[in-house]
Amino acid sequence: MNRREFVRWSGLGMMSLLLSGCGILGTSAGAAGEEVQKNSVSGGNKMKIVVINSSPHARDESTSIYLSDRFSAGAVSAGHQVFTFDGANEETHPCRGCDICHMNGPCVFSDAIENKLMPELLSADMIVLVTPLYYYGMSAQLKTVIDRFYSRTGMLHGKKSMLIATAYDSADWTMTALSEHYATLVRYMDWVDVGQVLGIGCGSRSLVEKSSFGEQAYNIGANL
Ligand SMILES: Cc1cc2nc3c(=O)[nH]c(=O)nc-3n(C[C@H](O)[C@H](O)[C@H](O)COP(=O)(O)O)c2cc1C
Repeated sequence: MNRREFVRWSGLGMMSLLLSGCGILGTSAGAAGEEVQKNSVSGGNKMKIVVINSSPHARDESTSIYLSDRFSAGAVSAGHQVFTFDGANEETHPCRGCDICHMNGPCVFSDAIENKLMPELLSADMIVLVTPLYYYGMSAQLKTVIDRFYSRTGMLHGKKSMLIATAYDSADWTMTALSEHYATLVRYMDWVDVGQVLGIGCGSRSLVEKSSFGEQAYNIGANL
């Protein structure tokens, strides 16, 4: 794929934006069951899910990883397979824009993104982007990983996706820029959006644990 096609893929994303709302599921705890699963995004099939964490905080202190772990627990309880990538602590390199990959892989960097994450991503049914809110956008750690999607852009189209984020602030506009960036990514990548868990007012572990966002994340996973 060349750069012109990179732009052309954007047009294909229009359709997915229109359809993306269809993938959003009810999150009531009692919604699981065979009939619900048939009508869910998985169609009752067991999915392979890749979760990309990006907080530099320790797993037991991070607020965003708390929510992603709740989501994963729900997904595993429903029989789905979850692979988790630590985008903050694995060896990663930002895309250098050399275009040697021609958007069709492999990447010149032989790091954890290329060797550990990419094989899992290519075979995944669903990608979960997880981030603390940093200056009203995603963390640099997550953006670094996403920019490396460039080497396999076309191959990553058509998957299901989800956004999980946490922030200190609780104003209603706290997550607006991040949420719109994610929606644009969904459109361009031709993904099917499964949902967004936007944990506002979750600036510490005790705050996120007391909030309802953990239950929201678990229920989305359990009802895929
Ligand atoms: C560099 C940096 C930038 C941040 N920017 C924001 C921000 O713009 N808005 C906000 O509400 N919180 C902001 N925060 C707070 C974090 O989003 C919040 O503490 C979050 O719960 C951290 O998640 P984590 O524990 O998973 O890393 C920022 C924190 C850091 C370290």
